[in-house]
Amino acid sequence: MKIVEELKKIIIDVGKKLDLQISESEIKIEHPADVNFGDYSTNIAMVLAKLEKKNPRELAELIKNQISDFQFPIIEKVEVAGAGFINFYLKAEYLIEEAEIINYEIEFRNKLNENNVGKTMVIDYSAPNIAKPFGIGHLRSTNIGQAIYNIYKILGWNCIGDNHIGDWGTQYGKLVAAIKKWNEKDLNELTIEDLERLYVKFHKEAETDEKLIEEGRNWFAKLENGDVEARKIWQKCIDISLIEFNKVYQLLGVKIDFVHGESFYEDKLENVTKEIINKGITKKSEGAIIVEFDNMPVAMLKKSNGTTTYFTRDMATIKYRLENWKANLIIYEVGVDQELHFRQVFETAKMMGWIPNQGMVHIAHGLIRWKTGKFSTRKGDTIHLSEVIDKAMEKAKEIADKTTVDKKLTNTEKEEMIKAVGIGAIKFNDLSSDPKKDVIFDWDKIMSLEGDSGPYLQYTYARCKSVLNKTQIKEQKNINKIIGNINDDEMALIREFYKFEEKIIESADRYSPAVVAEFLLSVARKYNEFYAKNRIIDQKEETFRIFLTRTTASIIEIGLDLLGIETVEKM
Ligand code: ARG
Repeated sequence: MKIVEELKKIIIDVGKKLDLQISESEIKIEHPADVNFGDYSTNIAMVLAKLEKKNPRELAELIKNQISDFQFPIIEKVEVAGAGFINFYLKAEYLIEEAEIINYEIEFRNKLNENNVGKTMVIDYSAPNIAKPFGIGHLRSTNIGQAIYNIYKILGWNCIGDNHIGDWGTQYGKLVAAIKKWNEKDLNELTIEDLERLYVKFHKEAETDEKLIEEGRNWFAKLENGDVEARKIWQKCIDISLIEFNKVYQLLGVKIDFVHGESFYEDKLENVTKEIINKGITKKSEGAIIVEFDNMPVAMLKKSNGTTTYFTRDMATIKYRLENWKANLIIYEVGVDQELHFRQVFETAKMMGWIPNQGMVHIAHGLIRWKTGKFSTRKGDTIHLSEVIDKAMEKAKEIADKTTVDKKLTNTEKEEMIKAVGIGAIKFNDLSSDPKKDVIFDWDKIMSLEGDSGPYLQYTYARCKSVLNKTQIKEQKNINKIIGNINDDEMALIREFYKFEEKIIESADRYSPAVVAEFLLSVARKYNEFYAKNRIIDQKEETFRIFLTRTTASIIEIGLDLLGIETVEKM
Protein backbone atom coordinates (compact mmCIF):
# COMPACT_ATOMS: atom_id res chain seq x y z
CA MET A 1 0.00 0.00 0.00
CA LYS A 2 2.70 2.43 0.97
CA ILE A 3 4.69 1.74 -2.18
CA VAL A 4 1.58 2.30 -4.24
CA GLU A 5 0.99 5.64 -2.54
CA GLU A 6 4.60 6.61 -3.07
CA LEU A 7 4.45 5.72 -6.76
CA LYS A 8 1.26 7.70 -7.18
CA LYS A 9 2.90 10.75 -5.66
CA ILE A 10 5.82 10.46 -8.05
CA ILE A 11 3.52 10.08 -11.04
CA ILE A 12 1.54 13.17 -10.03
CA ASP A 13 4.77 15.18 -9.69
CA VAL A 14 5.95 13.95 -13.09
CA GLY A 15 2.59 15.02 -14.48
CA LYS A 16 3.14 18.53 -13.16
CA LYS A 17 6.57 18.70 -14.76
CA LEU A 18 5.18 17.54 -18.09
CA ASP A 19 2.13 19.77 -17.89
CA LEU A 20 -0.23 16.82 -17.77
CA GLN A 21 -3.31 16.91 -15.60
CA ILE A 22 -3.16 13.73 -13.52
CA SER A 23 -5.54 13.21 -10.64
CA GLU A 24 -4.86 10.55 -8.05
CA SER A 25 -8.07 8.68 -8.77
CA GLU A 26 -7.01 8.14 -12.37
CA ILE A 27 -3.87 6.29 -11.42
CA LYS A 28 -4.26 2.54 -11.16
CA ILE A 29 -1.27 0.60 -9.94
CA GLU A 30 -1.38 -3.16 -9.97
CA HIS A 31 0.80 -6.22 -9.68
CA PRO A 32 1.28 -7.62 -13.17
CA ALA A 33 0.19 -11.26 -13.34
CA ASP A 34 3.46 -12.11 -15.09
CA VAL A 35 6.55 -11.19 -13.03
CA ASN A 36 8.47 -10.54 -16.25
CA PHE A 37 6.51 -7.30 -16.37
CA GLY A 38 7.79 -6.21 -12.99
CA ASP A 39 6.29 -5.91 -9.53
CA TYR A 40 4.01 -2.93 -10.10
CA SER A 41 2.51 -1.62 -13.28
CA THR A 42 0.37 1.34 -14.30
CA ASN A 43 -1.69 2.09 -17.38
CA ILE A 44 -1.74 5.83 -16.69
CA ALA A 45 0.03 6.68 -19.96
CA MET A 46 -2.68 4.90 -21.90
CA VAL A 47 -5.42 6.66 -19.99
CA LEU A 48 -3.85 10.07 -20.57
CA ALA A 49 -2.99 9.36 -24.20
CA LYS A 50 -6.64 8.72 -24.89
CA LEU A 51 -7.69 12.01 -23.27
CA GLU A 52 -4.94 14.06 -24.91
CA LYS A 53 -5.07 12.19 -28.20
CA LYS A 54 -1.39 11.26 -28.06
CA ASN A 55 0.55 8.12 -28.81
CA PRO A 56 0.40 6.01 -25.63
CA ARG A 57 3.84 4.44 -26.01
CA GLU A 58 5.54 7.74 -26.61
CA LEU A 59 3.79 9.28 -23.65
CA ALA A 60 4.77 6.29 -21.53
CA GLU A 61 8.42 6.75 -22.51
CA LEU A 62 8.21 10.43 -21.66
CA ILE A 63 6.75 9.72 -18.23
CA LYS A 64 9.19 6.89 -17.63
CA ASN A 65 12.21 9.09 -18.33
CA GLN A 66 10.96 11.66 -15.88
CA ILE A 67 10.21 9.03 -13.24
CA SER A 68 13.81 7.88 -13.43
CA ASP A 69 14.85 11.31 -12.12
CA PHE A 70 13.00 10.74 -8.86
CA GLN A 71 14.67 9.13 -5.91
CA PHE A 72 12.97 5.89 -4.98
CA PRO A 73 15.70 3.64 -3.64
CA ILE A 74 13.73 0.39 -3.62
CA ILE A 75 13.06 0.52 -7.37
CA GLU A 76 15.61 -1.28 -9.53
CA LYS A 77 14.34 -0.10 -12.90
CA VAL A 78 11.32 1.30 -14.74
CA GLU A 79 10.35 0.00 -18.18
CA VAL A 80 7.73 0.61 -20.82
CA ALA A 81 6.02 -2.42 -22.28
CA GLY A 82 3.13 -3.46 -24.49
CA ALA A 83 0.74 -0.77 -25.62
CA GLY A 84 2.10 1.71 -23.08
CA PHE A 85 2.30 0.12 -19.65
CA ILE A 86 4.89 1.53 -17.28
CA ASN A 87 6.40 -1.27 -15.19
CA PHE A 88 8.35 -0.99 -11.95
CA TYR A 89 10.86 -3.57 -10.78
CA LEU A 90 11.76 -3.80 -7.10
CA LYS A 91 15.34 -4.36 -5.97
CA ALA A 92 16.23 -7.84 -4.75
CA GLU A 93 17.68 -6.32 -1.59
CA TYR A 94 14.31 -4.82 -0.78
CA LEU A 95 12.50 -8.09 -1.42
CA ILE A 96 14.88 -9.88 0.91
CA GLU A 97 14.68 -7.24 3.60
CA GLU A 98 10.91 -7.48 3.65
CA ALA A 99 11.13 -11.25 3.93
CA GLU A 100 13.51 -10.85 6.84
CA ILE A 101 11.00 -8.72 8.71
CA ILE A 102 8.34 -11.38 8.24
CA ASN A 103 10.79 -13.92 9.61
CA TYR A 104 11.04 -11.88 12.78
CA GLU A 105 7.37 -12.24 13.50
CA ILE A 106 7.49 -9.70 16.33
CA GLU A 107 9.06 -7.10 14.09
CA PHE A 108 6.44 -7.71 11.42
CA ARG A 109 3.61 -7.47 13.93
CA ASN A 110 5.04 -4.27 15.38
CA LYS A 111 5.29 -2.77 11.92
CA LEU A 112 1.66 -3.60 11.13
CA ASN A 113 0.52 -2.41 14.52
CA GLU A 114 1.66 1.12 13.86
CA ASN A 115 -1.03 1.54 11.23
CA ASN A 116 -4.07 2.43 13.35
CA VAL A 117 -3.07 3.38 16.85
CA GLY A 118 -5.86 4.74 19.00
CA LYS A 119 -8.78 3.65 16.84
CA THR A 120 -11.56 1.45 18.14
CA MET A 121 -13.75 -0.80 16.06
CA VAL A 122 -16.71 -2.83 17.27
CA ILE A 123 -17.67 -5.90 15.31
CA ASP A 124 -21.06 -7.54 15.71
CA TYR A 125 -20.82 -11.17 14.65
CA SER A 126 -22.08 -14.71 15.16
CA ALA A 127 -25.32 -13.65 16.93
CA PRO A 128 -27.34 -16.88 16.96
CA ASN A 129 -30.82 -16.97 18.45
CA ILE A 130 -31.88 -18.60 21.69
CA ALA A 131 -33.70 -21.91 21.39
CA LYS A 132 -32.87 -22.21 17.74
CA PRO A 133 -30.12 -24.22 16.15
CA PHE A 134 -26.77 -22.57 15.48
CA GLY A 135 -27.20 -22.36 11.72
CA ILE A 136 -24.82 -22.47 8.81
CA GLY A 137 -25.39 -18.75 8.31
CA HIS A 138 -24.33 -18.09 11.89
CA LEU A 139 -21.27 -20.23 11.26
CA ARG A 140 -20.38 -18.06 8.29
CA SER A 141 -20.88 -14.92 10.36
CA THR A 142 -18.70 -16.36 13.13
CA ASN A 143 -15.87 -17.31 10.77
CA ILE A 144 -15.83 -14.12 8.73
CA GLY A 145 -16.43 -11.92 11.77
CA GLN A 146 -13.58 -13.47 13.71
CA ALA A 147 -11.21 -13.15 10.74
CA ILE A 148 -12.09 -9.48 10.28
CA TYR A 149 -11.55 -8.96 14.00
CA ASN A 150 -8.09 -10.58 13.81
CA ILE A 151 -7.13 -8.62 10.70
CA TYR A 152 -8.10 -5.28 12.23
CA LYS A 153 -6.34 -6.21 15.42
CA ILE A 154 -3.02 -6.98 13.73
CA LEU A 155 -3.34 -3.60 12.00
CA GLY A 156 -3.33 -1.87 15.35
CA TRP A 157 -7.04 -1.27 15.94
CA ASN A 158 -8.47 -1.73 19.38
CA CYS A 159 -11.09 -4.38 18.56
CA ILE A 160 -14.24 -5.24 20.44
CA GLY A 161 -16.19 -8.32 19.44
CA ASP A 162 -19.85 -8.29 20.41
CA ASN A 163 -22.18 -11.24 20.14
CA HIS A 164 -25.63 -9.69 19.70
CA ILE A 165 -27.54 -12.88 20.38
CA GLY A 166 -31.27 -12.96 19.76
CA ASP A 167 -32.82 -13.37 23.19
CA TRP A 168 -35.59 -10.77 23.25
CA GLY A 169 -38.73 -10.14 21.27
CA THR A 170 -42.17 -11.61 20.68
CA GLN A 171 -40.75 -14.99 19.68
CA TYR A 172 -39.52 -15.53 23.23
CA GLY A 173 -43.01 -14.90 24.49
CA LYS A 174 -44.06 -17.70 22.16
CA LEU A 175 -41.36 -19.96 23.52
CA VAL A 176 -42.47 -19.34 27.10
CA ALA A 177 -46.08 -19.98 26.07
CA ALA A 178 -45.07 -23.27 24.46
CA ILE A 179 -43.15 -24.36 27.54
CA LYS A 180 -46.06 -23.47 29.81
CA LYS A 181 -48.46 -25.38 27.59
CA TRP A 182 -46.71 -28.54 26.58
CA ASN A 183 -43.56 -29.12 28.58
CA GLU A 184 -43.85 -31.95 31.08
CA LYS A 185 -40.23 -32.01 32.24
CA ASP A 186 -38.66 -30.26 35.15
CA LEU A 187 -37.26 -26.93 33.88
CA ASN A 188 -33.79 -28.00 34.89
CA GLU A 189 -33.95 -31.03 32.64
CA LEU A 190 -34.86 -29.20 29.46
CA THR A 191 -32.43 -29.64 26.57
CA ILE A 192 -31.79 -27.54 23.48
CA GLU A 193 -33.62 -30.16 21.42
CA ASP A 194 -36.68 -29.78 23.68
CA LEU A 195 -36.63 -26.03 23.15
CA GLU A 196 -36.35 -26.36 19.38
CA ARG A 197 -39.13 -28.95 19.30
CA LEU A 198 -41.45 -26.84 21.43
CA TYR A 199 -40.81 -23.74 19.37
CA VAL A 200 -41.53 -25.58 16.12
CA LYS A 201 -44.67 -27.13 17.64
CA PHE A 202 -45.92 -23.70 18.63
CA HIS A 203 -45.64 -22.41 15.08
CA LYS A 204 -47.28 -25.46 13.65
CA GLU A 205 -50.25 -25.34 16.02
CA ALA A 206 -50.55 -21.59 15.65
CA GLU A 207 -51.34 -22.04 11.98
CA THR A 208 -54.75 -23.38 12.95
CA ASP A 209 -55.14 -21.84 16.40
CA GLU A 210 -55.09 -18.06 16.39
CA LYS A 211 -55.46 -17.81 20.13
CA LEU A 212 -51.94 -19.14 20.49
CA ILE A 213 -50.39 -16.08 18.88
CA GLU A 214 -52.29 -13.96 21.35
CA GLU A 215 -50.93 -16.08 24.20
CA GLY A 216 -47.41 -15.69 22.93
CA ARG A 217 -47.85 -11.93 22.76
CA ASN A 218 -49.17 -11.86 26.29
CA TRP A 219 -46.23 -13.82 27.59
CA PHE A 220 -43.86 -11.39 25.93
CA ALA A 221 -45.70 -8.50 27.53
CA LYS A 222 -45.27 -10.30 30.87
CA LEU A 223 -41.60 -10.74 30.12
CA GLU A 224 -41.25 -7.06 29.40
CA ASN A 225 -43.06 -6.21 32.60
CA GLY A 226 -40.70 -8.37 34.63
CA ASP A 227 -43.15 -11.14 35.53
CA VAL A 228 -41.16 -13.51 37.78
CA GLU A 229 -42.34 -16.78 36.26
CA ALA A 230 -41.90 -15.60 32.68
CA ARG A 231 -38.43 -14.35 33.48
CA LYS A 232 -37.42 -17.57 35.15
CA ILE A 233 -38.43 -19.73 32.19
CA TRP A 234 -36.82 -17.34 29.72
CA GLN A 235 -33.55 -17.23 31.68
CA LYS A 236 -33.45 -21.01 31.69
CA CYS A 237 -33.77 -21.03 27.91
CA ILE A 238 -30.85 -18.63 27.62
CA ASP A 239 -28.68 -20.75 29.89
CA ILE A 240 -29.41 -23.91 27.94
CA SER A 241 -28.72 -22.24 24.61
CA LEU A 242 -25.52 -20.56 25.73
CA ILE A 243 -24.09 -23.90 26.81
CA GLU A 244 -24.76 -25.16 23.29
CA PHE A 245 -23.32 -22.08 21.59
CA ASN A 246 -20.22 -22.21 23.76
CA LYS A 247 -19.59 -25.78 22.66
CA VAL A 248 -19.57 -24.58 19.07
CA TYR A 249 -17.23 -21.68 19.88
CA GLN A 250 -14.91 -24.00 21.75
CA LEU A 251 -14.73 -26.35 18.78
CA LEU A 252 -14.12 -23.47 16.40
CA GLY A 253 -11.56 -21.89 18.72
CA VAL A 254 -13.53 -18.65 18.76
CA LYS A 255 -13.82 -16.29 21.71
CA ILE A 256 -16.08 -13.27 21.42
CA ASP A 257 -15.32 -10.48 23.87
CA PHE A 258 -18.89 -9.61 24.88
CA VAL A 259 -22.28 -11.28 24.75
CA HIS A 260 -24.59 -8.31 24.88
CA GLY A 261 -27.72 -9.95 23.58
CA GLU A 262 -30.81 -8.02 22.57
CA SER A 263 -32.17 -8.23 26.11
CA PHE A 264 -29.13 -6.33 27.38
CA TYR A 265 -30.68 -3.18 25.92
CA GLU A 266 -34.05 -3.64 27.54
CA ASP A 267 -33.58 -0.93 30.16
CA LYS A 268 -32.20 1.46 27.54
CA LEU A 269 -35.07 1.18 25.08
CA GLU A 270 -37.38 3.72 26.61
CA ASN A 271 -34.84 6.54 26.53
CA VAL A 272 -33.74 5.74 23.02
CA THR A 273 -37.31 5.62 21.80
CA LYS A 274 -38.01 8.99 23.42
CA GLU A 275 -34.88 10.48 21.92
CA ILE A 276 -35.83 9.35 18.44
CA ILE A 277 -39.37 10.63 18.83
CA ASN A 278 -38.10 13.97 20.16
CA LYS A 279 -35.91 14.36 17.11
CA GLY A 280 -39.13 14.60 15.15
CA ILE A 281 -38.36 11.84 12.68
CA THR A 282 -41.17 9.48 13.67
CA LYS A 283 -44.83 9.21 12.81
CA LYS A 284 -47.85 7.56 14.36
CA SER A 285 -49.41 4.92 12.21
CA GLU A 286 -52.34 2.77 13.36
CA GLY A 287 -51.17 3.00 16.96
CA ALA A 288 -47.59 2.12 16.10
CA ILE A 289 -44.64 4.49 15.92
CA ILE A 290 -42.68 4.35 12.70
CA VAL A 291 -39.71 5.98 10.97
CA GLU A 292 -40.23 6.90 7.34
CA PHE A 293 -37.52 7.07 4.66
CA ASP A 294 -37.32 8.49 1.17
CA ASN A 295 -36.82 5.30 -0.73
CA MET A 296 -37.24 2.45 1.72
CA PRO A 297 -40.17 0.86 3.50
CA VAL A 298 -40.90 2.23 6.97
CA ALA A 299 -39.21 0.84 10.08
CA MET A 300 -41.18 0.16 13.22
CA LEU A 301 -39.92 1.71 16.44
CA LYS A 302 -42.84 0.66 18.62
CA LYS A 303 -45.64 -1.73 17.81
CA SER A 304 -49.27 -0.81 18.38
CA ASN A 305 -49.30 -2.97 21.54
CA GLY A 306 -46.43 -0.91 22.93
CA THR A 307 -43.66 -3.48 22.50
CA THR A 308 -40.30 -2.68 20.98
CA THR A 309 -38.75 -4.28 17.92
CA TYR A 310 -35.48 -5.67 16.56
CA PHE A 311 -35.02 -2.24 14.96
CA THR A 312 -35.49 -0.38 18.28
CA ARG A 313 -32.94 -2.63 19.92
CA ASP A 314 -30.41 -2.07 17.16
CA MET A 315 -30.79 1.69 17.59
CA ALA A 316 -30.12 1.36 21.33
CA THR A 317 -27.14 -0.84 20.52
CA ILE A 318 -25.48 1.79 18.36
CA LYS A 319 -25.83 4.40 21.03
CA TYR A 320 -24.33 2.09 23.60
CA ARG A 321 -21.37 1.22 21.38
CA LEU A 322 -20.67 4.87 20.70
CA GLU A 323 -21.01 6.04 24.27
CA ASN A 324 -19.54 3.12 26.12
CA TRP A 325 -16.81 1.97 23.78
CA LYS A 326 -16.19 5.20 21.83
CA ALA A 327 -16.36 3.21 18.61
CA ASN A 328 -14.79 4.84 15.55
CA LEU A 329 -16.13 2.12 13.31
CA ILE A 330 -18.95 -0.40 13.71
CA ILE A 331 -19.03 -3.50 11.54
CA TYR A 332 -21.94 -5.94 11.32
CA GLU A 333 -21.27 -9.40 9.95
CA VAL A 334 -24.83 -10.52 9.19
CA GLY A 335 -26.41 -12.30 6.20
CA VAL A 336 -27.54 -10.45 3.10
CA ASP A 337 -31.19 -11.13 3.96
CA GLN A 338 -30.92 -8.35 6.56
CA GLU A 339 -29.66 -5.80 4.08
CA LEU A 340 -32.78 -3.62 4.26
CA HIS A 341 -32.83 -3.72 8.05
CA PHE A 342 -29.30 -2.35 8.26
CA ARG A 343 -29.92 0.30 5.65
CA GLN A 344 -32.84 1.49 7.78
CA VAL A 345 -30.78 1.34 10.96
CA PHE A 346 -27.85 3.25 9.40
CA GLU A 347 -30.13 5.85 7.83
CA THR A 348 -31.92 6.45 11.13
CA ALA A 349 -28.58 6.71 12.95
CA LYS A 350 -27.57 9.31 10.39
CA MET A 351 -30.73 11.33 10.97
CA MET A 352 -29.99 11.15 14.69
CA GLY A 353 -26.39 12.23 14.16
CA TRP A 354 -25.05 9.02 15.70
CA ILE A 355 -22.66 7.88 13.00
CA PRO A 356 -19.15 6.97 14.21
CA ASN A 357 -16.45 8.96 12.42
CA GLN A 358 -15.26 6.01 10.34
CA GLY A 359 -18.77 4.84 9.59
CA MET A 360 -20.87 1.72 9.87
CA VAL A 361 -20.57 -1.25 7.62
CA HIS A 362 -22.78 -4.22 6.95
CA ILE A 363 -20.78 -7.14 5.58
CA ALA A 364 -23.77 -8.83 4.02
CA HIS A 365 -22.58 -12.38 3.52
CA GLY A 366 -24.14 -14.53 0.82
CA LEU A 367 -25.68 -17.96 1.08
CA ILE A 368 -24.03 -21.34 1.23
CA ARG A 369 -25.22 -23.66 -1.51
CA TRP A 370 -24.49 -27.09 -2.93
CA LYS A 371 -23.31 -27.12 -6.52
CA THR A 372 -26.82 -28.33 -7.32
CA GLY A 373 -28.80 -25.79 -5.31
CA LYS A 374 -30.09 -24.97 -1.85
CA PHE A 375 -28.09 -26.12 1.17
CA SER A 376 -30.43 -28.78 2.49
CA THR A 377 -30.74 -32.51 2.86
CA ARG A 378 -32.60 -34.64 0.36
CA LYS A 379 -35.69 -34.38 2.51
CA GLY A 380 -35.48 -30.62 2.22
CA ASP A 381 -34.47 -29.95 5.81
CA THR A 382 -31.75 -27.41 6.33
CA ILE A 383 -28.40 -28.88 7.21
CA HIS A 384 -27.27 -28.70 10.81
CA LEU A 385 -23.85 -27.54 11.84
CA SER A 386 -23.10 -30.77 13.68
CA GLU A 387 -23.67 -32.79 10.50
CA VAL A 388 -21.21 -30.64 8.61
CA ILE A 389 -18.59 -30.86 11.34
CA ASP A 390 -18.91 -34.63 11.68
CA LYS A 391 -18.48 -35.09 7.97
CA ALA A 392 -15.46 -32.75 7.91
CA MET A 393 -13.78 -34.81 10.64
CA GLU A 394 -14.43 -38.00 8.72
CA LYS A 395 -12.85 -36.50 5.61
CA ALA A 396 -9.93 -35.13 7.62
CA LYS A 397 -9.29 -38.64 8.88
CA GLU A 398 -9.01 -39.85 5.30
CA ILE A 399 -6.42 -37.13 4.73
CA ALA A 400 -4.52 -38.23 7.84
CA ASP A 401 -4.22 -41.70 6.36
CA LYS A 402 -3.23 -40.42 2.95
CA THR A 403 -0.65 -37.68 3.52
CA THR A 404 3.02 -38.43 3.37
CA VAL A 405 4.83 -35.60 5.13
CA ASP A 406 6.33 -36.88 8.37
CA LYS A 407 4.30 -39.97 9.01
CA LYS A 408 5.62 -40.50 12.51
CA LEU A 409 2.55 -39.00 14.14
CA THR A 410 1.68 -40.02 17.66
CA ASN A 411 -1.97 -40.74 18.35
CA THR A 412 -2.49 -37.38 20.03
CA GLU A 413 -0.80 -35.61 17.14
CA LYS A 414 -3.02 -37.45 14.73
CA GLU A 415 -6.15 -36.46 16.62
CA GLU A 416 -5.06 -32.84 16.79
CA MET A 417 -4.28 -32.88 13.12
CA ILE A 418 -7.70 -34.28 12.23
CA LYS A 419 -9.43 -31.57 14.21
CA ALA A 420 -7.26 -28.77 12.82
CA VAL A 421 -7.71 -29.99 9.24
CA GLY A 422 -11.45 -30.67 9.50
CA ILE A 423 -12.34 -27.37 11.15
CA GLY A 424 -9.76 -25.47 9.09
CA ALA A 425 -11.21 -26.80 5.86
CA ILE A 426 -14.70 -25.59 6.69
CA LYS A 427 -13.43 -22.20 7.81
CA PHE A 428 -11.26 -21.72 4.76
CA ASN A 429 -14.21 -22.48 2.53
CA ASP A 430 -16.16 -19.71 4.25
CA LEU A 431 -13.29 -17.27 4.00
CA SER A 432 -11.70 -17.83 0.64
CA SER A 433 -14.35 -16.18 -1.46
CA ASP A 434 -15.58 -12.63 -1.07
CA PRO A 435 -18.14 -12.59 1.78
CA LYS A 436 -20.76 -11.00 -0.46
CA LYS A 437 -20.70 -13.92 -2.85
CA ASP A 438 -22.58 -17.17 -2.32
CA VAL A 439 -20.34 -20.05 -1.32
CA ILE A 440 -20.54 -23.37 -3.06
CA PHE A 441 -20.20 -26.24 -0.65
CA ASP A 442 -18.28 -28.92 -2.48
CA TRP A 443 -16.62 -31.51 -0.24
CA ASP A 444 -14.05 -32.52 -2.87
CA LYS A 445 -12.83 -28.97 -3.21
CA ILE A 446 -12.98 -28.15 0.50
CA MET A 447 -10.81 -31.15 1.38
CA SER A 448 -8.51 -31.17 -1.62
CA LEU A 449 -4.79 -31.40 -0.91
CA GLU A 450 -3.95 -30.02 -4.31
CA GLY A 451 -6.46 -27.26 -4.74
CA ASP A 452 -7.48 -23.99 -3.18
CA SER A 453 -8.24 -25.32 0.25
CA GLY A 454 -7.36 -25.08 3.92
CA PRO A 455 -5.78 -28.55 3.94
CA TYR A 456 -3.59 -27.55 0.99
CA LEU A 457 -2.17 -24.64 3.00
CA GLN A 458 -1.73 -26.75 6.12
CA TYR A 459 0.01 -29.41 4.04
CA THR A 460 2.37 -26.85 2.53
CA TYR A 461 3.14 -25.58 6.01
CA ALA A 462 3.91 -29.10 7.26
CA ARG A 463 6.14 -29.60 4.23
CA CYS A 464 8.10 -26.43 5.12
CA LYS A 465 8.39 -27.58 8.73
CA SER A 466 9.70 -30.93 7.67
CA VAL A 467 12.40 -29.23 5.54
CA LEU A 468 13.29 -26.93 8.44
CA ASN A 469 13.67 -29.94 10.71
CA LYS A 470 16.24 -31.44 8.38
CA THR A 471 18.57 -28.47 8.12
CA GLN A 472 21.34 -27.43 10.48
CA ILE A 473 20.80 -23.77 9.62
CA LYS A 474 18.82 -22.26 12.47
CA GLU A 475 19.41 -18.54 12.90
CA GLN A 476 19.33 -16.43 9.77
CA LYS A 477 20.33 -12.81 9.80
CA ASN A 478 21.58 -10.37 7.18
CA ILE A 479 20.56 -12.48 4.24
CA ASN A 480 20.97 -9.54 1.88
CA LYS A 481 24.72 -9.94 2.21
CA ILE A 482 24.67 -13.36 0.68
CA ILE A 483 22.43 -13.07 -2.36
CA GLY A 484 23.93 -15.26 -5.00
CA ASN A 485 22.31 -16.01 -8.30
CA ILE A 486 18.62 -16.23 -7.68
CA ASN A 487 16.91 -18.65 -10.06
CA ASP A 488 13.45 -18.17 -11.54
CA ASP A 489 11.62 -20.37 -9.05
CA GLU A 490 13.27 -18.62 -6.13
CA MET A 491 12.60 -15.25 -7.68
CA ALA A 492 8.93 -16.00 -8.27
CA LEU A 493 8.58 -16.92 -4.61
CA ILE A 494 10.48 -14.04 -3.10
CA ARG A 495 8.51 -11.62 -5.23
CA GLU A 496 5.37 -12.68 -3.37
CA PHE A 497 6.52 -12.11 0.19
CA TYR A 498 6.64 -8.31 0.31
CA LYS A 499 2.95 -8.15 -0.66
CA PHE A 500 1.86 -9.64 2.65
CA GLU A 501 1.40 -6.32 4.46
CA GLU A 502 -0.52 -4.65 1.66
CA LYS A 503 -2.77 -7.70 1.29
CA ILE A 504 -3.65 -7.55 4.99
CA ILE A 505 -4.45 -3.85 4.65
CA GLU A 506 -6.50 -4.46 1.52
CA SER A 507 -8.35 -7.23 3.29
CA ALA A 508 -9.33 -4.81 6.05
CA ASP A 509 -10.26 -2.01 3.64
CA ARG A 510 -12.47 -4.32 1.61
CA TYR A 511 -13.87 -6.21 4.60
CA SER A 512 -12.85 -9.38 2.87
CA PRO A 513 -10.66 -12.06 4.47
CA ALA A 514 -10.57 -13.60 0.99
CA VAL A 515 -7.78 -11.19 0.04
CA VAL A 516 -5.52 -12.77 2.66
CA ALA A 517 -6.74 -16.27 1.79
CA GLU A 518 -5.96 -15.76 -1.92
CA PHE A 519 -2.54 -14.43 -1.10
CA LEU A 520 -1.69 -17.45 1.05
CA LEU A 521 -2.70 -19.76 -1.77
CA SER A 522 -0.51 -17.86 -4.16
CA VAL A 523 2.51 -18.09 -1.85
CA ALA A 524 1.87 -21.81 -1.28
CA ARG A 525 1.63 -22.47 -5.02
CA LYS A 526 4.89 -20.65 -5.68
CA TYR A 527 6.59 -22.53 -2.87
CA ASN A 528 5.41 -25.89 -4.12
CA GLU A 529 6.60 -25.12 -7.64
CA PHE A 530 9.96 -24.13 -6.23
CA TYR A 531 10.05 -27.22 -4.02
CA ALA A 532 9.26 -29.58 -6.88
CA LYS A 533 12.17 -28.35 -8.98
CA ASN A 534 14.88 -27.49 -6.47
CA ARG A 535 16.70 -29.54 -3.88
CA ILE A 536 17.30 -27.73 -0.63
CA ILE A 537 19.31 -29.73 1.87
CA ASP A 538 23.04 -30.13 1.24
CA GLN A 539 23.05 -27.79 -1.73
CA LYS A 540 25.29 -24.77 -2.00
CA GLU A 541 22.09 -22.68 -2.07
CA GLU A 542 20.86 -24.29 1.15
CA THR A 543 21.06 -21.08 3.20
CA PHE A 544 18.98 -19.07 0.80
CA ARG A 545 16.49 -21.83 0.17
CA ILE A 546 16.01 -22.41 3.87
CA PHE A 547 15.37 -18.70 4.19
CA LEU A 548 12.67 -18.97 1.53
CA THR A 549 11.19 -21.99 3.28
CA ARG A 550 11.20 -20.28 6.64
CA THR A 551 9.53 -17.16 5.25
CA THR A 552 6.86 -19.25 3.51
CA ALA A 553 6.13 -21.09 6.75
CA SER A 554 5.97 -17.83 8.63
CA ILE A 555 3.53 -16.27 6.18
CA ILE A 556 1.25 -19.30 6.17
CA GLU A 557 1.30 -19.45 9.95
CA ILE A 558 0.54 -15.76 10.51
CA GLY A 559 -1.96 -15.74 7.65
CA LEU A 560 -3.88 -18.80 8.79
CA ASP A 561 -3.85 -17.43 12.31
CA LEU A 562 -5.57 -14.30 10.99
CA LEU A 563 -8.17 -16.54 9.40
CA GLY A 564 -8.60 -18.39 12.69
CA ILE A 565 -7.14 -21.60 11.26
CA GLU A 566 -4.58 -23.73 13.05
CA THR A 567 -1.41 -25.07 11.52
CA VAL A 568 0.01 -28.50 12.29
CA GLU A 569 3.70 -29.35 12.33
CA LYS A 570 3.23 -32.79 10.87
CA MET A 571 0.69 -34.09 8.42
N1 ARG B 1 -29.80 -12.74 15.77
C1 ARG B 1 -29.89 -12.24 14.45
C2 ARG B 1 -30.21 -13.36 13.47
O1 ARG B 1 -29.88 -14.49 13.72
C3 ARG B 1 -28.64 -11.54 13.99
C4 ARG B 1 -28.26 -10.32 14.78
C5 ARG B 1 -27.28 -9.46 14.05
N2 ARG B 1 -26.87 -8.30 14.75
C6 ARG B 1 -27.60 -7.17 14.94
N3 ARG B 1 -27.08 -6.18 15.59
N4 ARG B 1 -28.81 -7.06 14.45
O2 ARG B 1 -30.77 -13.13 12.44
